Amino acid sequence: MFDSIAVVGATGAVGTIIRSVLERDSVPFKTIKFLASKRSAGKEITFAGKTYTVEELVPDSFCGVDLAICSTPDESAKEFVPWAKERGCLCIDESGYWRMDPTVPLVIPEVNPQDMWKHQGVISSPNCSTTQMVVAMKPIHDVARIKRVVVSTYQATSVAGLAGTRDLEGGTAAALAGKDYQYETFAHPIAFNCMPQIGSPKYMGYTSEEMKMVYETRKILGDESIQVCPTCVRVPVSRSHSESILLETERKVTVEEARKLFASFPGIVVMDDLPNKVYPMPNICAGRDETFVGRIREDISCPNGLAFWCVSDNLRKGAATNAAQIAEALIAGKGKPA
Ligand SMILES: NC(=O)c1ccc[n+]([C@@H]2O[C@H](COP(=O)([O-])OP(=O)(O)OC[C@H]3O[C@@H](n4cnc5c(N)ncnc54)[C@H](OP(=O)(O)O)[C@@H]3O)[C@@H](O)[C@H]2O)c1
Repeated sequence: MFDSIAVVGATGAVGTIIRSVLERDSVPFKTIKFLASKRSAGKEITFAGKTYTVEELVPDSFCGVDLAICSTPDESAKEFVPWAKERGCLCIDESGYWRMDPTVPLVIPEVNPQDMWKHQGVISSPNCSTTQMVVAMKPIHDVARIKRVVVSTYQATSVAGLAGTRDLEGGTAAALAGKDYQYETFAHPIAFNCMPQIGSPKYMGYTSEEMKMVYETRKILGDESIQVCPTCVRVPVSRSHSESILLETERKVTVEEARKLFASFPGIVVMDDLPNKVYPMPNICAGRDETFVGRIREDISCPNGLAFWCVSDNLRKGAATNAAQIAEALIAGKGKPA
């Protein structure tokens, strides 16, 4: 039980969903406050039928707070997490800033709950494109050790926050009306387009988003030998990322075995009936907390290869739901060493 909770970045795309996830009462608390930048201080928001005023985040915002669930840009997470730690407040952080710090656990509660107990005041939640892939990898990795992953992502615009959604809607309306549109976040028009760049150039022609998928996957699964080849693409979909995933395992995993392993893993829903046109798609997975898999088939180009399609809501399991599940797992003592 956490007596006092703060939602940091409460006005953003992820913060909005964190608020709705917390309204479900799965993380009990006595008091709650909502923090954002100076820009949003004074705004009123409704939570569980009551009106709250958004407060500006300052160092003393964390006084008397036990748990902060945080979703701000990296630069602000870099600054405020130490403020929280100094005041004895545990942060569950959605930003990318702390994820690869060796002292910070990077946690998906269904995959590596044991790691969160090593925290030193901050627990990171992975990048949204990593989370759904690693959830789907875990049951296969446990029985057949994954040696290599080739993944292509089809990522929603809301991963760029509220501005990403404004750009998709505004850009599409303008394109249909034959007008110009000044994009806030994207380097190219997203309306009726796909962009094979998410993030900045990082390593050997791979982008920062792609390298997050490499490094975070290894850290969460605790296996530095897994080879990951990602291509991250932004598509004109507002919510839920889709991923084409090819796994190469140490021993062959048949389609039937994979289907059973996926279906029995917590948080995975199998939707796999090609003749009847049943498979996960963003428009049916948005707003859901699970990770969906379908199009499960042998990789006909590789003896121990398995191919499938994976969809999950980037704002839910990719962010807010995972953060709330970390808090729930802490309360339940999940994975705690005896
Ligand atoms: N969107 C996704 O699918 C997703 C998934 C996983 C992780 N993440 C990560 O989650 C974080 C938030 O993403 P988002 O999509 O929610 O972005 P967003 O819609 O732009 O929201 C950002 C939030 O951070 C607040 N903020 C910005 N600067 C601040 C500061 N200096 N001090 C305090 N609060 C500040 C904003 O408050 P104001 O209203 O005052 O500007 C807003 O509440 C990012 O690090 C992102 O990489 C996002």
